[in-house]
Amino acid sequence: MALIAGLTGQATVLVCGASRGIGLALCEQLLARDDVHRLFAVARQATGSEGLRSLALQYPSRIRLLDCDARDEWALAALASTVGAERPHLHLVLCTLGVLDEGPARAEKSLAQLDMASLQATFASNSFAPILLLKHLMPLLRRQPTTFAALSARVGSIGDNRLGGWYSYRASKAALNQLLRTASIELRRLNAQATVLALHPGTTDTQLSRPYQANVPNDKLFDTTFTAERLLALIARHGPADSGSFLAWDDQPIPW
Ligand SMILES: NC(=O)c1ccc[n+]([C@@H]2O[C@H](COP(=O)([O-])OP(=O)(O)OC[C@H]3O[C@@H](n4cnc5c(N)ncnc54)[C@H](OP(=O)(O)O)[C@@H]3O)[C@@H](O)[C@H]2O)c1
Repeated sequence: MALIAGLTGQATVLVCGASRGIGLALCEQLLARDDVHRLFAVARQATGSEGLRSLALQYPSRIRLLDCDARDEWALAALASTVGAERPHLHLVLCTLGVLDEGPARAEKSLAQLDMASLQATFASNSFAPILLLKHLMPLLRRQPTTFAALSARVGSIGDNRLGGWYSYRASKAALNQLLRTASIELRRLNAQATVLALHPGTTDTQLSRPYQANVPNDKLFDTTFTAERLLALIARHGPADSGSFLAWDDQPIPW
């Protein structure tokens, strides 16, 4: 099956959030495919990631590790220019970066735990960084088939919110969904072969989810390999006609 709808040849791919967790598993599976000839693996500490360094030893001519903090627009501009100097087009961009409880970002349980620092830090990473990544990579997403898929979260659904909690994280993913939906409408006008997707990966065993796994049944906690497989299958199935959708790993639409 083609990596993305409409693609007939080899693909150039960029994963931002590649240094561990779901992003790293996606890099492993992308490099195992014959139709991915170049992969840009981006994270704040991409070159310091053991997992990415091992992939670079295994596939020296196909992967390039790039350190970039996607909250920094200068760094994003430099990233776009580095990638653009090497390849004129990206067929697939996977934005897998995100924070739940890191630095000032907090997984708040109550209003009392909410503060400006947590809201700002969470929105900067989860909402603003992905859409600014898309903005800076736009010149590389024109004319040919291209998919920009960002990892959102089911808890970002307003219609599905029955449990409350995680104020900053929930709201930042809801904002991400709106930003992606808006971008999908603009991209449709600029490139009829472009697809923008907001994807829920399912609860997956990573550094981000580890402190919150106690109440997750074993069969509902995925390993990163399974999640990456499901996400790549989902992306392959959804082309421009589905651009702007919010979909779960099991191909079910999620209410906004
Ligand atoms: N795990 C789950 O159960 C789950 C469930 C629903 C949704 N999600 C979403 O899925 C995505 C991936 O989650 P994960 O569990 O794989 O998390 P993770 O293991 O913590 O990985 C997050 C990745 O994002 C990178 N990153 C963070 N901030 C960045 C920045 N400013 N610029 C560039 N890279 C940055 C990190 O690398 P550096 O530290 O090197 O920058 C790391 O590679 C997130 O968006 C998360 O919200 C996860």
